[in-house]
Amino acid sequence: MFNIHSVLVYFLVASSNVKPVILEFCQSADRGCHTYHDSASSHTPTTLQLTLTNYSHALDHFSVSCMKLLEAFPVDQVDGNFVRAVRNCVFSKSIPTPLKGPLRLAAVSKDVIEGILDLDAAVTQSEDFLLYVSGARLMPGSVPLAHRYGGHQFGYWAGQLGDGRAHFLGQYTNRKGEIWDLQLKGSGKTPYSRSGDGRAVIRSSVREFLCSEAMHSLGVPTSRAASLVVSKEPVLRDQFYNGNVKTERGAVVLRLAKSWFRIGSLEILSRTGEIDLLRKLLNFVIEEHFPSISSDDPDKYLVLYATIVNETAHLIASWMSVGFAHGVCNTDNFSLLSITIDYGPFGFMESYDPNFVPNTSDDEGRYSIGAQANVGLFNLEKLLEALSPVFTPKQQQGAQHILKGYADIYQMRCHQMFKAKLGLLGEEEDDGYLIAFLLKMMEDTQSDFTMTFRQLSEASAQQLRDRDFTQMWALDDLSSHKLFSRWLSMYLLRLGSQENDRDVDRQQRMKNVNPRYVLRNWMAESAVRKAEVDDFSEVELLHRVLSVPFVTQETAEEAGYAARPPSWAKRLKVSCSS
Ligand SMILES: *[C@@H]1O[C@H](CO)[C@@H](O)[C@H](O)[C@H]1NC(C)=O
Ligand SMILES: *[C@@H]1O[C@H](CO)[C@@H](O)[C@H](O)[C@H]1NC(C)=O
Ligand SMILES: *[C@@H]1O[C@H](CO)[C@@H](O)[C@H](O)[C@H]1NC(C)=O
Ligand SMILES: *[C@@H]1O[C@H](CO)[C@@H](O)[C@H](O)[C@H]1NC(C)=O
Repeated sequence: MFNIHSVLVYFLVASSNVKPVILEFCQSADRGCHTYHDSASSHTPTTLQLTLTNYSHALDHFSVSCMKLLEAFPVDQVDGNFVRAVRNCVFSKSIPTPLKGPLRLAAVSKDVIEGILDLDAAVTQSEDFLLYVSGARLMPGSVPLAHRYGGHQFGYWAGQLGDGRAHFLGQYTNRKGEIWDLQLKGSGKTPYSRSGDGRAVIRSSVREFLCSEAMHSLGVPTSRAASLVVSKEPVLRDQFYNGNVKTERGAVVLRLAKSWFRIGSLEILSRTGEIDLLRKLLNFVIEEHFPSISSDDPDKYLVLYATIVNETAHLIASWMSVGFAHGVCNTDNFSLLSITIDYGPFGFMESYDPNFVPNTSDDEGRYSIGAQANVGLFNLEKLLEALSPVFTPKQQQGAQHILKGYADIYQMRCHQMFKAKLGLLGEEEDDGYLIAFLLKMMEDTQSDFTMTFRQLSEASAQQLRDRDFTQMWALDDLSSHKLFSRWLSMYLLRLGSQENDRDVDRQQRMKNVNPRYVLRNWMAESAVRKAEVDDFSEVELLHRVLSVPFVTQETAEEAGYAARPPSWAKRLKVSCSS
């Protein structure tokens, strides 16, 4: 028999630890449980509903506001985009440096433009739009700000970091009453640029644009991207940090989140002893983003901590469920709202491998996919340290206790999600084993993570029984394992025991959680190569395909997005510097 421990450590799936009570509860009423399914399948209804209403056809009335932040926090007394140590504030005013033209709008997300910004997609064709989203002109109401934060990078305190090439433009309140923070990335130097030039290149911007929108469609909490503008401005980059400097072209992404505050936002205030400001920021975050926490609860910071611990565990479990490796899980890249932010050298795992590392320069594998749960724990420890000055000794103890619960929450959520990926209903004692067994076989046979689960969803029970895997290349790989038959019998037996569960229902359920298309590195790379010579057709195609990742699409099939990756994909290295 094989050693199952490596898998158990990876997914922390130990069925004995999972409390059936929680799972029962989850299957009936838990909101979190349903979010995963809903966000995947409710896509169409939302869009339909929105197309019935009118959008703003001109930008004349579009405006943002910065008043909330400017009233809540002191702003850096010094002006100007030169690098400096900043104290006693949360933001510095910083004007974007427009990219040198000619500019070109390379991509827009209609979903964001219409669904979040209330604009008719046609306005994106206007000159005004291009100027706004490239940083050349400020939207009415905008007071552009760069955020001061710190963080632990690769395990060590790195001091002041901050938005080094991003500008917060303002908040937009949409007709649903949601408040979104608009931010440009790649828009020039700020007081926090350190040695950087404040720019982002086409390569990394295309990747961020595509991936953040794709993650949203996968149902994973994430920042969003509204637009991508490319320029002819030369930007020098040493892509693999090997001394080989190349000229690339500058690009700007307009991205959105409900908040861009990070663990590092709190850390810097705590480290420098700016405790009043730390409290202010915490109170602001609670009031704006955690309405269920009462502002006069003496334990409000502790409740906030518990909420973030829980949501971070959920976020990382959802990354694992789609094989996503973030690549740079530093504390400054971990959102206080537990959404995925700061897309850099991320990657979707292809052949199943817990040691998959998307950043090829990360030799130690610190941020391998299998390490993410532990890195989350590390980052939450750092968050606890940052909160220590506002905790009483008793709350401090409470927080320690909450942190101890992280692993259980993560395990439970992973277990739930992988059960859903296998179409399992209810809870049986051997479910954890069934999942771990499968993953171990996938590891041994290097089966494709995404397509193994997808093809298990698409195959009928009869096909599985007959081992009829024509056209099912991932299952074909998996079935070469010497224990495959044993696993398959267990699985079929388990499925067969689900009362009133028709096979087509099981298939549909599984297809709703197992995507057929994810942004594989080779796909992104192919789109980037074209974009660099001003052909954005593949960016557009990928954007469209990945917005409905659970639905088989003809154009995607023709492009080979669900096929065995091309042989050149194996030799690809992930673009690191961005
Ligand atoms: C934990 O977070 C998830 C995801 O946001 C949510 O659905 C769930 O209700 C939370 N659980 C608790 C106990 O707050
Ligand atoms: C939609 O139309 C109604 C009436 O026709 C108008 O009052 C409203 O302002 C419009 N909303 C937008 C977002 O254009
Ligand atoms: C945060 O993530 C970005 C994008 O992945 C990465 O380039 C950057 O190095 C990270 N930030 C820090 C300060 O490590
Ligand atoms: C990739 O890993 C290397 C080595 O740890 C690190 O120096 C580099 O900053 C990482 N890349 C990014 C974009 O963070």
